[in-house]
Amino acid sequence: MPTVQFTETVLRDANQSLIATRMPRTAFEGILGALDKAGYYSLECWGGATFDSCLRYLDEDPWERLRTIRKACPNSKLQMLLRGQNLLGYKHYPDDVVRLFVRKSVENGIDIIRIFDALNDPRNIEVAVDETLKSGAHASGTLCFTTSPIHTLESFAALAKQLEGMGAQSICVKDMAGIMGPQEAYDLVRAIKARVTVPVVVHTHSTTGLGFLTLLKSVEAGADVIDTAISAFSGGTSQPATETMAYALRQLGYTVPLDGGRLTEINDFFKPVQAAFLRDGTLNPTVLGTSPDCLIYQIPGGMLSNLVAQLTAQKKLDLLDQVLAETPKVRADLGYPPLVTPMSQMVGAQAASNVLQGERYKSVSKEVRSYVAGEYGRAPGDISPALRQKILGGKAPVTCRFADLLEPGVETARAELGDRAACDEDVLSYIAFPQQAEAYFEKRDAKKRNTVSYSLRRIDD
Ligand code: CO
Repeated sequence: MPTVQFTETVLRDANQSLIATRMPRTAFEGILGALDKAGYYSLECWGGATFDSCLRYLDEDPWERLRTIRKACPNSKLQMLLRGQNLLGYKHYPDDVVRLFVRKSVENGIDIIRIFDALNDPRNIEVAVDETLKSGAHASGTLCFTTSPIHTLESFAALAKQLEGMGAQSICVKDMAGIMGPQEAYDLVRAIKARVTVPVVVHTHSTTGLGFLTLLKSVEAGADVIDTAISAFSGGTSQPATETMAYALRQLGYTVPLDGGRLTEINDFFKPVQAAFLRDGTLNPTVLGTSPDCLIYQIPGGMLSNLVAQLTAQKKLDLLDQVLAETPKVRADLGYPPLVTPMSQMVGAQAASNVLQGERYKSVSKEVRSYVAGEYGRAPGDISPALRQKILGGKAPVTCRFADLLEPGVETARAELGDRAACDEDVLSYIAFPQQAEAYFEKRDAKKRNTVSYSLRRIDD
């Protein structure tokens, strides 16, 4: 029977999905040694929302966090999630920024970069893949799973083939919403395996309760690596549990190269961490539950809770059914974008606006306008001609890769920062999250000044 490898998500996606990425470095430093020795294929530990959260909420230098993990885990492959041309944010960056960011990520310790685009537009993925390969790291070409009349097994398999052609050393199926059923996973992994020779990785969430079944059928179809989270940080909006999946696969005869003793040690470490987040309210027990509603509406859990919150705030929760009925219509008008951030928020907000205003597209957000203008990339299907006309008038949409229209950004940022930046990593933090980075630099400098005056005072004494 084949071997199944595991990627542990506790430091990134589990942390992001359950507690909005609020786990400080000090909460997990003590277990890095055991994580390093447990036999994982990789540790997903950086990128996604971790970077923003470090600067914005945790008073941490995200680069320092990465170097700490690197030092404590010399034997592990460290993995990050990268939103292609958008890096860790939602806007497109020029190529020089993308390349420097990738290079510095690898220099600071990243081994595997999982690269995706919200629209599955390969033009938004290829520069990051190219630089990952040039930096000597592993590029994992990623496709965002979604269902629509235009997304077929053939179209996904063709994209996988295209990503392999770019040089991707593995293909990841990313089911960010946890709505991929076991049969869909089985068929999709089979279709991709038939077209590519590189390993296939499957990523899902337990939101709808399908996670374990989806991973099992993925493995039966030949998936080489699956994403799981250590049980204390598993389930609900996070990933299925590592130990449970390892147990089930071993019982079925698969080889699982994980050390059970280490997994127990890791989970024992994270149990009180989970309990502390539950106590202080950071971990809301409702996110640990099962939400099959998301299957009925085929929308991610985060999008559903956003819609409920938005309508509740306007005392219009009675319109929820109408908004949920409008959502797939808006998505169709926009050419069936996958409902992943930022498209899920854009489609949801537009559907709510169409219902609340009693007229479709009476007002259209800046983001939806940019999307229709081609500034996010190529829509998977055709955008409704009437909507395009309404938003763009006679203006032609952008058809080239949007980043080709952007001026280089690294030198400008360097000049803006001057000596406030201590290194290229600082410049990249500033480009990614300018206000948060500047606030962080100020605090860091203030700390340094305090240390200096303190030591001077000691000399005076
Ligand atoms: Co995820």
